[in-house]
Amino acid sequence: MPTLAVYPGSFDPLTNGHVDIITRGARIFDRIIVAILINAEKAPLFGMDERLEIAREVFKDFPNVEVDTFDGLLVDYVERRRAQVIVRGLRAVSDFEFEFQMALMNRRLNGKIETVFMMPAEQYSYISSRLIKEVFALGGRVHGLVPDTVEERLRQKVTTR
Ligand code: PNS
Repeated sequence: MPTLAVYPGSFDPLTNGHVDIITRGARIFDRIIVAILINAEKAPLFGMDERLEIAREVFKDFPNVEVDTFDGLLVDYVERRRAQVIVRGLRAVSDFEFEFQMALMNRRLNGKIETVFMMPAEQYSYISSRLIKEVFALGGRVHGLVPDTVEERLRQKVTTR
């Protein structure tokens, strides 16, 4: 049976750390679904359509990467998609506690679904969507930390403000 994995997140915005994990996942699993959570934050910087567009653009040449949205419980979405695995990235020890709680809660909610943790390349181990937004808003350089399309869109948001 083909192994189908779901990589869930807010992706506001997609960073090169996310891209690294998805690329690694696409090599291991038959298919990986990038599942963007609807309404994670009340005021996201990037709207849902834009986040979908970005991920689809970045992974257009990856036939086994799909981009989708979900709401409600993650395990329900995973089951609905008939996937077996949840992929999460682990950057540093500080990620561990929350990820551990989520993985065990998800296992309690649905024991058939396994969470698999993957580590991004070291050069991305300190970046997060939150830091990217903060650094960019304060005039810092984020080149090389996010896909080019994200950098371009960040620039447009600043100039249209
Ligand atoms: O990118 P993020 O914000 O770290 O992703 C968090 C996400 C989307 C994986 C998590 O908030 C989630 O799964 N939300 C869906 C609701 C749910 O199932 N909550 C219980 C998780 S134990």
